[in-house]
Amino acid sequence: MMMDGMPVKQLNTFAIDTTAQQIATAHNDDELMAIWQSAKKRSQAILLLGSGSNVLFIDHFTGTVVLNRINGIDVQEDKEAWHLHVGAGEDWHNLVCFALEREMPGLENLALIPGRVGSAPIQNIGAYGVEVKTVCEYVDLIDMNNGKKIRLSKDECRFGYRDSIFKHHYRDSYAIVAVGLILAKNWQPVLSYGDLRHLDRETVTPRQVFDTVCSMRRDKLPDPNITGNAGSFFKNPVVGADIAADILLHHPQAPHYPQSDGRIKLAAGWLIDQCNLKGYRHGGAAVHEKQALVLVNQGHATGDDIVALARHVRQSVAQRFNVWLEPEVRFIGADGEVDAVGVLS
Ligand code: FAD
Ligand code: EPU
Repeated sequence: MMMDGMPVKQLNTFAIDTTAQQIATAHNDDELMAIWQSAKKRSQAILLLGSGSNVLFIDHFTGTVVLNRINGIDVQEDKEAWHLHVGAGEDWHNLVCFALEREMPGLENLALIPGRVGSAPIQNIGAYGVEVKTVCEYVDLIDMNNGKKIRLSKDECRFGYRDSIFKHHYRDSYAIVAVGLILAKNWQPVLSYGDLRHLDRETVTPRQVFDTVCSMRRDKLPDPNITGNAGSFFKNPVVGADIAADILLHHPQAPHYPQSDGRIKLAAGWLIDQCNLKGYRHGGAAVHEKQALVLVNQGHATGDDIVALARHVRQSVAQRFNVWLEPEVRFIGADGEVDAVGVLS
């Protein structure tokens, strides 16, 4: 079904009140191909969306937004693991609950992350010590230029911190249509983060991990149904040992996480917080009071308000710490995705 000049406010969790030329919904591969080809015939740009929880609309989008609603969860089982084949349009948190209810643990640390299953591998979603790469077996995508289906193994996805091949080689003209997950029967709880550390490894249940994660998230992160936001606005910066050492010399308490390549990951939220920016506002946009890495729409923020605020945050952190933050959120301009760092520079 197609509609003209449609508002997208309900389709992005930042609740930016702009429009797209058209909006279409795909429930299966054939509908997806048909919508794509029809838009191409009209020389229109195409934007695939799941739940719009990692995008910032900075303009009216002149093309067709395609909502991926390819659903279905198929479970196969062998001696060692459950293998889930999941349609890209399934809601991620519902999948976490589905697995938990059927006693297939392994996803509980990733509870309450908004978005659809098809988007999860794109930035290799992660939280509380687990990333989707730890449970991903394969990703199915379609080359929209010729309709060919491709299956990439987990290794071929080249997962990194908030990164994968779907942000690079397979970014344009490819649609993820399903994700294969593998959940080991030999469940090992991941209890390395925050309040999870207080749980007893010997007796803890997947449900307790799930509840603890949900409670930590509800404490810190704004609910997009109430306050527009897209989660962490910036990625945590991974910097050279020299830059980290300089910061740690003056702030020994700064959170920092050494990486396997010798570089150090810093906490962007801490850096922003040190600039005293919690609650700082620009137009209808603000830095979240409880988590400085989250920018919020206070009700009537425009894409420009969020961009201006993000620019201020980025410049403040660079001035104080010599670290340039990069957005995690994908910026959508009139013709499609634009370079977010370029927009903020
Ligand atoms: P969308 O925003 O709809 O799309 C994201 C990008 O993927 C866009 O560029 C889009 O064009 C592209 N895309 C979407 N679907 C497809 C497809 N089928 N094929 C090809 N390309 C596609 N992220 C984390 O990693 N960890 C967290 O803890 C976390 N917490 C969050 C908390 C809140 C409150 C919010 C609002 C967001 C949070 N996020 C987190 C970010 C977000 O939840 C994830 O990035 C999520 O995977 C986005 O899913 P989506 O379906 O909404 O993607
Ligand atoms: N901190 C502050 N002040 C703040 C925010 C954070 O001092 O305002 C400090 C915290 O005290 C902590 C450190 O910074 O020592 C890290 O903060 P937190 O544990 O809240 O996690 P984060 O690094 O800010 C990352 C992910 C989140 C994910 C959480 C939990 C990124 C960009 N963000 O946030 O993912 O949920 O860890 O694992 O990696 C998202 O990607 O959208 C997202 C929400």
